[in-house]
Amino acid sequence: MAKLIDGKAVSAQVREEVKQAVAQRVASGKRAPYLAVVLVGDDPASASYVRGKARASTEVGIESDTLTYDASISEAELLDIVAKLNNDAGVDGILVQLPLPDHIDDRKVIHAIDPAKDVDCFHPESVGTLVIGLDGFQPATPAGIVELLKRSDIETSGAHCVIIGRSNIVGKPLANLMLKKGLDSTVTVCHSRTKDLPGIARQADILVAAIGRANFVTADMVKPGAVVIDVGINRVDDDTRERGYRLVGDVDFDAIEPIASHITPVPGGVGPMTIAVLLQNTLMAANRA
Ligand code: GUN
Repeated sequence: MAKLIDGKAVSAQVREEVKQAVAQRVASGKRAPYLAVVLVGDDPASASYVRGKARASTEVGIESDTLTYDASISEAELLDIVAKLNNDAGVDGILVQLPLPDHIDDRKVIHAIDPAKDVDCFHPESVGTLVIGLDGFQPATPAGIVELLKRSDIETSGAHCVIIGRSNIVGKPLANLMLKKGLDSTVTVCHSRTKDLPGIARQADILVAAIGRANFVTADMVKPGAVVIDVGINRVDDDTRERGYRLVGDVDFDAIEPIASHITPVPGGVGPMTIAVLLQNTLMAANRA
C-alpha cells in the first residue's frame, strides 16, 4: 500500500506560506504583488485555468487582472501589449496563457516577456538560469513535483529519477531541477524512441510519468518501493459520470498503488501544485523588483 501524496493539502500549505509572506510585505509598507494574465480567444479550458489563477492570487493577497482579447488580435498588437506590461513598474509578473491562436507565434510572444517578469519560467533566459542551477523563477509543474517530494520527506540525493517524457514544460526542466545541487538525483529522461523503456523505468527510485497517455505506466515498469509521480491528465470515456468522462493519469494507479512506496493521485496530485508555484514566482518577482 503506497502512501498517497496529497497535492491539494501541500498546495494549500504553500499558498498559506505565500499569503503570510505577502501580508508581511504589505505590512512593511510595500504594495501587494501584481500579476497580469493575458488571455486570447475563448477556449473554455484556458478561460477556466485563468479563472483559477486569478482566484488563487486574490486568496493570497496578490492583485491580478486578466486582460482578455479577441482571437483575431494580431501578433503585433499582442507584442505591443506585452511591451507595455514590461514597461509598467506596477506589474510584477506577466503570464500569457497558452495556446495562442495559430496566426500568433507563441515563441515570439514568450521571448518578448521581460525575463524579470517571466513567472511561467518559459523565457529562454529563465530556462538557462535553471539549467546552470542559479536561483530564479521555477517552472510550475517541475517545481510543484519537487515541493511534493520535499514535503513528503522523500530522499532525492543519489536517487535514480527516471522521467518519461521530454517536453519543454515538464520533462526537460524537471531533469534540470532534479540534477541541481541540493536535490542531487541521478536523472534519466525517456521518450518515445527509448529502447527498453520498461527496463529503465524499473530502475527508478523516483518515477515520473509525463507523456499524456492514459495508463501508460503499468505495474511491470515499477520497482517495488519506488516513488511514483503522475503528471498526466487524460480524459477517458465514462458513461457513469454525468459529463461522460473521467480524468486519469499516465499511471495505472490501481495496479501500481500496492507496490509503490508513495504515489500521486489524479486528480489531486501534481495538478494543484502548479498554481502554488505561480504564486511563489509572482511574490519573488515583486520582492526582486
Ligand atoms: N497553458 C496550460 N498551462 C499553462 C501554463 O502553465 N502557463 C501558460 N502560460 N499557459 C498554459
